[in-house]
Amino acid sequence: MASTVAGFSAQVVRWQKSHGRNNLPWQNTRDPYRVWLSEIMLQQTQVATVLDYYTRFLLRFPQVADLAAASLDEVLGLWSGLGYYSRARNLHRCAQDVVRLHGGQFPRTAQLLQTLPGIGPSTAAAIASFCFSERVAILDGNVKRVLTRVTAFEGDLASGAQERALWEIATGMLPRRQLLESMPRYTQGVMDLGATICTTRQPACLLCPVRSLCLGFAGGAPERFPVKTRKLKRSALSWTLLWAQRTDGAVWLERRAAPGIWGGLYCFPVFATEDDLLAAVPPRLQSGVQALAPFVHVLTHKDLRLSPMLLELSARDARALRWPGAGAWWAPADWESLGLPAPVRKLLEQARTGT
Ligand code: ADE
Repeated sequence: MASTVAGFSAQVVRWQKSHGRNNLPWQNTRDPYRVWLSEIMLQQTQVATVLDYYTRFLLRFPQVADLAAASLDEVLGLWSGLGYYSRARNLHRCAQDVVRLHGGQFPRTAQLLQTLPGIGPSTAAAIASFCFSERVAILDGNVKRVLTRVTAFEGDLASGAQERALWEIATGMLPRRQLLESMPRYTQGVMDLGATICTTRQPACLLCPVRSLCLGFAGGAPERFPVKTRKLKRSALSWTLLWAQRTDGAVWLERRAAPGIWGGLYCFPVFATEDDLLAAVPPRLQSGVQALAPFVHVLTHKDLRLSPMLLELSARDARALRWPGAGAWWAPADWESLGLPAPVRKLLEQARTGT
């Protein structure tokens, strides 16, 4: 392994300077609040999507204390559309812990950073290497791909032991000199390499700065890595949504329980079947329920099949309704700042704009 490792970090650092991404808004700073915020947003979301959200968050919450002092509802509202809402709940809790337990300053080591909500080992390493130049390895999806290819790592990363083995290898490959400058550069470099050159399909090996030491390339099939032996099964779930709307435009939304799908967000009442939904509507109003086109919303490990059912109501009929969940009528003016799941927001916007 030693011969594979030699030269790797130096090449990555050199390549990052000239070919990596160097002008993203969370770069060229060592402020852990800014770096942390970007890393959490980037965990499951593309850079292009994160850009606007990142700017809006910083405008509203310039410092970690501002975020800690905000209500969870406001944070979820600003997060709306980014998905994976446990990130937003942890973000808020993390800001509060930084203020309450750490005097408003993020801890300065990867080990301590990991004690905070929502910060796993890889995110902790990213923050510690970017902000404090600590010699610690990140291992997100992009980096796993780069390192398993360069070292022709045959283990299945679904196994914890294999992932730990790759982590050890990753640590061995880190720069050893001039860490103050080289650690942030290297960390960004392996991410950039994975995002732009060492892509899942059709990697651009001819442009790769580490091609000459890549064992995956030497073996002729770098796309074979990372090796996957177990297949994760996707499951499906069907929800029938009761979209009750008053003539003044207000809709009935319930806050969903956390943890769980869309935990903490405001959603139409959810029923397992159309019959269950109808049973919750008074008999004289049932004929007003209209089935809308069903569609699929894709979550990480699940396909959510959504069947919206629209019920338009007079203010008087609305007052007569008693639904079990803790819900309320929300006027269109409130929707924008409310934490809404993306498909619910889309349905409401389409109805409002008539598209
Ligand atoms: N994904 C995760 N962290 C990132 C970063 N710092 N730059 C670009 N993409 C990333």
